[in-house]
This record gives sequence, C-alpha cells and structure tokens, in this order.
Amino acid sequence: MSLDQEIFCANEEETLSFAEAFAPKVPRGTVLLLHGDLGAGKTSFARGFIRGLGVTEPVTSPTFTIVQEYPLPDLGFAYHIDLYRLENSDEAEGFGILDFLMDHDSYNLIEWPERGIELFNTLNQIDIFIRYDGVGRKIKIKTKS
Ligand SMILES: Nc1ncnc2c1ncn2[C@@H]1O[C@H](COP(=O)(O)OP(=O)(O)OP(=O)(O)O)[C@@H](O)[C@H]1O
Ligand SMILES: [Mg+2]
Repeated sequence: MSLDQEIFCANEEETLSFAEAFAPKVPRGTVLLLHGDLGAGKTSFARGFIRGLGVTEPVTSPTFTIVQEYPLPDLGFAYHIDLYRLENSDEAEGFGILDFLMDHDSYNLIEWPERGIELFNTLNQIDIFIRYDGVGRKIKIKTKS
C-alpha cells in the first residue's frame, strides 16, 4: 500500500491530526525529510507524528538543540532533528547524525534536510513537502521507489 498522497490542512490542528494518524502506517527505521519554507509547519507535523508513535511528553522545536530524542513506548526512539543552523552535511556528520540515521529501530524526522542533502539517499526515506496554501497548508507525501 502506497503512503503517497497530497492533502490540504486548513489549520495547525488538522496538520497535527493528520500526522498523528499517519505515523502508525510508517515502518520503523524510516527517515522523514520535512521540506518547507520558514514557518511552513514542519515542527507541527513532527509533533503530531511523534504523538502518533505513542509519545506523551511534549514535543518541542529542535532548532536550538539540533536534536531532540523521544523514547518510544516499546523500543527505539523518535529523533527530531533540525539542520537549519548547520551549513552543510560535514557539520551534520560532526554532530553525529549518522548514528541516528543508522538506528533502524527508530524514526528520524529531519527539518531543513537541504542542509545535509548528501546524507539522505536511502530507500527507507519519505519526502514530505509542506507548502503555504492560503491560510492553510498543502502536505505532499512522496515515498522512494
Ligand atoms: N495546516 C496549517 N495551517 C495553518 N497554519 C499552520 C498549519 N500547520 C502549522 N501551522 C502554523 O504554522 C506556524 C509555524 O509552524 P512550525 O513551527 O511547525 O513551522 P516550521 O516549518 O517548523 O518552521 P521553521 O522553519 O522555523 O522550523 C505555527 O504558528 C503553526 O501553528
Ligand atoms: Mg521547525
């Protein structure tokens, strides 16, 4: 079953609920690349998604910490990573992103993947494009293959 789709979310609440319902359909080990301009709603999507994996603690923006780790109820983690403040993939490797990406029990959610795009070239990744559309957002999901 393909996860590819495009939907319209009229407000943040709709983004959160969509991402929360989407999360259980996504296999462990997936790297989700969250593409979108400043303020598009990447963190909102990640927040809903991580909640959908059963995490109950609050999900905060990783812009300043670069990575936030959330233990999942059974095993593995959700790693929420924001590359905005990094220049390139060397800097991303410098903070140890490969260790997160290679953890196949876990999920990676990456904001600003363009900052380290050379690192993201595997079959286990999903591109999520979020675009402004009036007061809401269009969210497009595109899997590899
Ligand atoms: N579907 C939506 N419709 C309208 N507003 C939304 C939607 N989803 C999120 N927002 C709003 O967009 C704003 C920015 O959201 P968010 O912080 O998630 O963006 P971001 O893409 O992570 O930004 P940054 O690039 O700074 O990390 C928030 O005020 C949020 O409420
Ligand atoms: Mg953000």
